[in-house]
Amino acid sequence: MKFLPETASEWARQNDLLHLYIEGWNLFFTVLIFLAVFVFAIRYRRRAPDERPRPILGSLPLEITWTLIPLLIALSMFAWAAKLYFDYATPPRDAMEVYVTGKQWMFYTQHPDGPREINELHVPLGKAVKLTMTSEDVIHSFYVPAFRIKRDVIPGRYTTQWFVATKPGKYRLFCAEYCGTQHSAMGGWVYVMDPAEYERWLSGGGEGTMTAQGEKLFNVLGCVGCHGQGGTGGRCPPLINLYGAQVELRGGGTVVADETYLRESILAPGVKVVVGYPNIMPSFQGQLSEAQVLQLVAYIKGLSGTTASPARQAPQPGVDLKSRFKNLRQSP
Ligand code: CUA
Repeated sequence: MKFLPETASEWARQNDLLHLYIEGWNLFFTVLIFLAVFVFAIRYRRRAPDERPRPILGSLPLEITWTLIPLLIALSMFAWAAKLYFDYATPPRDAMEVYVTGKQWMFYTQHPDGPREINELHVPLGKAVKLTMTSEDVIHSFYVPAFRIKRDVIPGRYTTQWFVATKPGKYRLFCAEYCGTQHSAMGGWVYVMDPAEYERWLSGGGEGTMTAQGEKLFNVLGCVGCHGQGGTGGRCPPLINLYGAQVELRGGGTVVADETYLRESILAPGVKVVVGYPNIMPSFQGQLSEAQVLQLVAYIKGLSGTTASPARQAPQPGVDLKSRFKNLRQSP
C-alpha cells in the first residue's frame, strides 16, 4: 500500500523522513495511551462496593518527567523542521535559474538560455534549480507533489523556491491556490532529464534565449541611451556587475541588488535612487508584462557573469546552516 506520493527530489526524501519521525512518535504515544487505558481499567477496577482508593497528593519527579520528555520530543521535531525550512528558503548561489510567470490559467516557465514553455518545465537531473516566480494577475501556487515543493506565485513581487530532482521522469505540476474558474485545470508536467539529454533539449530552443530577449527590450525601450551599450554606464548607473552587489542609495542606506530590487527599479525607479545620480528614469509600470520584466532582469543578471552558467557544484542542503541564517537576514 502506498502512503505517500512518489518521491523524485532531495526535498521529498528529507520531508518524508521528518514525516515518518513525527508519525512514529504519534504511533508510539497512541499505542502507549490505549494500552495504559486497558491495563489501568483492569488492574485498578473497583473490587468491592465499599472500596475507596488511597488519595494521591502529587509527585514532583513525575511532574518533571512528563513535562520534560514531551518537551524534548517536541523540540526535536521543531529543530528538524526549522532546519528544512531554512534550507528551502535559501537556494544555493550556484543554482540553475528558471523564471515562472503565473497567469489565469497557465504557468509560463522560461530558462535564461533556453526556450519558454507553457505548463511544462524541463529540468536536468541532480542539479539545484531555483524558481523565481511572479504573477500577471492573481495569486497562484506552484506545486509539484513528487518534489514536495509548493509556494505561492504572487502578483507584484518575486517569490522563490528550489529543488534538486533525483529521478528521471514526468511529474504532475499543479496550481495550489484557488485562482478562478479554470483553477482546477491549471497545471501541467515537470520533466526530469539526464543532463546530456537536457543540454540537447535546451539548445533546441526556438524564439531566442531569455537574456537575448531582455537585451532586445533593453535596446528597444531606450534603456541603452542612458545606461550605455551593454550596460556600461554613462549618464545613468552602470549595470555591469550590478546583480548581487551592494548599492548605495541617495539619502543614506544600502540595498542588495537582487531580483526584487531590479524589478522595483524598472517599475518604480524613484523609490531607491543610486547615490550620485539624478532621479530622472521614467517608470515602466503598466508598459511591460511581468514576463518582459523578468527578461530584463535576466539580461541584467547576465551582465554580472556570476550567474551566467548553470550550477556546477552539487548542492549540499543544510550543511552550512550558520551562513544560511546570515544570508537570510541580509536579504530584504
Ligand atoms: Cu492558478 Cu489556481
